[in-house]
Amino acid sequence: MAKFKKIGILTSGGDAPGMNAAIRAVTRHALSQGIEVVGVIGGYAGLLGAATETDKDVIAEKYLRPLKSGSVSKTITLGGTMLYSSRCPEFKTKEGMDLALKTCHEQNIDAIVAIGGDGTFRGATDLTNHGIPSIGIPATIDNDITATDHTIGFDTALNTCLSMFDYLRDTSESHARCIVTEVMGNGCGYLALYAGIAAGAVTIAIPEIPYDYEYGLNKIRDARAKGKRGMIAVCCEKMAKEGEENVAEHLTKLISSETGVDSRFNRLGHIVRGGIPTLRDRLVASQMGVGAVSLLLEGKSNLVMCLRDNRVTHTDINFALVLDRMYKNKLKDGDLEPFTAAQVEEMKLRCTRRAENIRELYEISKSICY
Ligand code: F6P
Repeated sequence: MAKFKKIGILTSGGDAPGMNAAIRAVTRHALSQGIEVVGVIGGYAGLLGAATETDKDVIAEKYLRPLKSGSVSKTITLGGTMLYSSRCPEFKTKEGMDLALKTCHEQNIDAIVAIGGDGTFRGATDLTNHGIPSIGIPATIDNDITATDHTIGFDTALNTCLSMFDYLRDTSESHARCIVTEVMGNGCGYLALYAGIAAGAVTIAIPEIPYDYEYGLNKIRDARAKGKRGMIAVCCEKMAKEGEENVAEHLTKLISSETGVDSRFNRLGHIVRGGIPTLRDRLVASQMGVGAVSLLLEGKSNLVMCLRDNRVTHTDINFALVLDRMYKNKLKDGDLEPFTAAQVEEMKLRCTRRAENIRELYEISKSICY
């Protein structure tokens, strides 16, 4: 069993409901194993900031907050992240890494648990490579980490979208309108697709599948011809190519001009990043938090926690990052070189399965809308 005196926990990138449940699980499990815990404030920026400060009290207040069991009491119900979050481009530079290492060495931080998305994992693998064993926990409302079936925050965000769509449905019904609503996703259509199906959207646009405007407009015409008053159309954000109008706004105008159905554009935006985490997000966060500490104690690092086939497991961070780039068609030269032929095959299989899963769900959405 590896010996750790103190571990640091941080949350980085876009916040996600359930991050606090993960912080709580890491803290409580580490404390139960006799390991001290510090919460790094504001993501990787907190590690850098602490290196520039000498006053112990200021460090503890602004950058590295000692966490006791009571520090995480009553946080499991809270959205956001009690450790705050940021995106920290300086951490990617040599100077930034030197500052982060200085902090870890001076403050006796032996290991890091980093909670966030793919940018967060890149930071965790860099730290591991510089001698600070690190483990990532996937938390983002986008569910865009290919290595895991579920990211912490996704379920809460879905349920928030669903409530908002239900509200929009009320007003769309009263005014006989189609409300085109755009949701976050950062290039990944899961949020729009799942919530759109569950809300009974008349048409859904996601980045993974080219949107067929004529098909969507016909659905709306048919629905109105059959007497449907209120309708919801759901679009994922950031779908337009450069110079093009955003899909959701473009569709809104086309509905009004081409179908005779009055329409309105709506953007849910950051609202779905907040809120009380659902049971699923709290449970997965708790399982992953405990799992991350246990793995560190087994002497393992450079891993990302995953949920696959409803089991909490883990995978190598580099494998996860390259798998992600393969799925998103962003592989860089030499990316696949460190992996065996069997691992590359495994990556391809996982990409195919994920793409198939999305296609199947999309077909379902088409066949059951009005
Ligand atoms: O990755 C989470 C996410 O909410 C994306 O869905 C969205 O595109 C992005 O972050 C928004 O980032 P910011 O909070 O910096 O506006």
